[in-house]
Amino acid sequence: MKNPFYSRDLVSIADFNLTEIEFLLNYAAQIKQDKIVKPASGKLLASCFFEPSTRTRLSFESSMLKLGGQIIGFADPTNTSEQKGESLYDSMKVISPYADIIVLRHPREGAARLAAQASDKPVINAGDGANKHPTQTLLDLFTIKECQGNIDNLNIALVGDLKYSRTIHSLVRACALYKTRFFFICPNTLMMPEHICHFLKTQGVRFSFHQSIEEVIKHLDIIYMTRLQKERFQTHEYAMIQQQFTLQPNMLVDAKKNLKILHPLPRIKEIDPTIDDTPYAYYFQQAANALPVRQAILSAILNEDLTHG
Ligand code: CP
Repeated sequence: MKNPFYSRDLVSIADFNLTEIEFLLNYAAQIKQDKIVKPASGKLLASCFFEPSTRTRLSFESSMLKLGGQIIGFADPTNTSEQKGESLYDSMKVISPYADIIVLRHPREGAARLAAQASDKPVINAGDGANKHPTQTLLDLFTIKECQGNIDNLNIALVGDLKYSRTIHSLVRACALYKTRFFFICPNTLMMPEHICHFLKTQGVRFSFHQSIEEVIKHLDIIYMTRLQKERFQTHEYAMIQQQFTLQPNMLVDAKKNLKILHPLPRIKEIDPTIDDTPYAYYFQQAANALPVRQAILSAILNEDLTHG
C-alpha cells in the first residue's frame, strides 16, 4: 500500500480512515519488533511547545534523533516572540521555512489546524487545548492492540474528566472505527461533550454512563483513566472530584484476567501506586510505546517510500 501519511498534516485523527490508521499501527509494530526504520537523516524538526509536556515533547524529540534527524524549537513560550504579541499564524509562517516538519502543542483549541494553514510544511498536533491529541490516540490504539491482541468489540471504560480530556476526545473517535463498547464513568460536571455523544450515536457506537468503576468492572477489557485537567476548571470543584475518582486495588476484585489499565499520564492521584505491581497495570508500557509510534509518524510523514535500503 502507498504510504498515506507522506507529507500530510496530522491535526485530527478524524482526518484518517481505518486503513490509514492500521497502516501506521503496523509500521510502528515493525519498528518495535525489528528496530528497522526508514531514517530522517538531513531533516529538521521544529518542536514548538506553548504548553508544558514531558512525554509528548521528549518522545518526539527522541524519535527524531533516533531517526538521524535534528531538532530546533522551544519548550518555554515565554522565550519566544509570542511575548511581544506575535500571532500563532505569523509564528508558524516564519518557522515553516526553518524546518521540514513542525510538532505543535498549544493551549488554544483549533491552534494546530490554524498552524497547518499557515505552514507549507507538515504540522503534527501534539495537543490543542481540550480539543484533540491524535498522536496520543495512535499510541493508545497501538497499546490496546498490543495488550489485547485486537481492538474490535472491546469493552472500554473511560474514567474521570471526560469533558476536558483531549486524549479521550480523540480516542473515542478512533475507537468508533473499531466498534468498541464504551462505559463512561465521570461526575455529572465532567460529562463527555454532547457533540461527541452525538457523533457516537450516528456511528452506531454503544455507550452508557456510570457513577463507579465497580458497577461495570466484570465486563471490562480496558480501563482508561484520565487526569483531572486542573488547569481547565475551578479549584474547589477539582479537590472534590479528585477523591471520588481514584482507582484502588479493592475495585479490581471482579476484574477479567485480560483487563489492562491505561492512563496517558501524568498521573496525579487517579491510580493508587500499589496497582503498579499488578498484572493489570499497563500505563508505563503505554508511555514507552510513544517511541515506536512517534518514530513511525515522523518517518511516514517525511519519507514517501518506507521500504528499507
Ligand atoms: N500524555 C501526554 O500528553 O503527556 P505530556 O503532557 O507529558 O506530553
